[in-house]
Amino acid sequence: MNRRQFLTASLAVVTVAGLDGAAKPVEAGKAMNILVLTGSPRKNGNSATLAAQFIKGAEEAGHTVARFDAAFKNVHPCTACNSCGMDGPCVFQDDFQFVREHIVTADLVAFATPMYYFGFSSQLKAVIDRFYAINGSIHVAKKAVLLMTYADNSARKEHPMQAHYEMLLDYLGWKDAGRVIAPGVWPAGSVNGTPYPQKAYELGRSL
Ligand SMILES: Cc1cc2nc3c(=O)[nH]c(=O)nc-3n(C[C@H](O)[C@H](O)[C@H](O)COP(=O)(O)O)c2cc1C
Repeated sequence: MNRRQFLTASLAVVTVAGLDGAAKPVEAGKAMNILVLTGSPRKNGNSATLAAQFIKGAEEAGHTVARFDAAFKNVHPCTACNSCGMDGPCVFQDDFQFVREHIVTADLVAFATPMYYFGFSSQLKAVIDRFYAINGSIHVAKKAVLLMTYADNSARKEHPMQAHYEMLLDYLGWKDAGRVIAPGVWPAGSVNGTPYPQKAYELGRSL
C-alpha cells in the first residue's frame, strides 16, 4: 500500500466508524474534552491572552481543557523517517506524547498562535507536523478553533493562515467552531484593551 492509498484507507475507516456509531459528531451542548495548542514563545503574549480567555470561557461552560504550550515543550520536528507508518510509535519520545494522549479523545482542538511570516509559529507547526504519526487516528469528527494575533491589519495578509487552517480541517474532517483573529497587535499585552480577549472568552463560553 502506498502513501496515497493509506490516506484514502484511513479516511474510509473513519466513514464506516461514523456509520456504526463509533465516531459520532460532537453533540451540541455536550461537555467536551478540549485540547488547546499554543504556539507563542511569549508567555504573556497576545495569543496566550486569547488562549487564556478562551479556556476561562470553556471551563465556565463545563468543558474539560488540556493545554499544551508548544514553545515551552520539547517537540522534535518530524524527520519523515516514516517509522510510524502514519499511525504508530514515533522515533522521538518527547513532549508530543502529551498531545498524542489528549488529541485522540479531544472533541475540540484549539490552535492559538501569532502570525509569523504569514504562517503558524514554527513551534506550533512542529506539533502539527507530528500529527503525521497519529494521522490514521485523528480523521474523526472533531471541532476546531483558531485564535490568531498579528501586527498588520489586512484581510489579504490573513488569507494564508485562514486558508491553511481551513485546509487542515478539511483534510482531517474537523469542523470550524469559531475564530478570533486579532489584527494590529504587536507588543506583548497590546491585545489587552481590544475587544478580542472578550471575544475569545465568549467563544469558549458558547461551546
Ligand atoms: C518572527 C516573527 C514574525 C512575525 N511575522 C509577522 C507577519 O508576518 N505579519 C504580521 O502582521 N505580524 C508578524 N509578527 C508580529 C506578531 O504576529 C505579533 O506581534 C503577534 O501579536 C505576536 O503574538 P504573541 O504576543 O502571542 O507572540 C511577527 C513577529 C515575529 C516575532
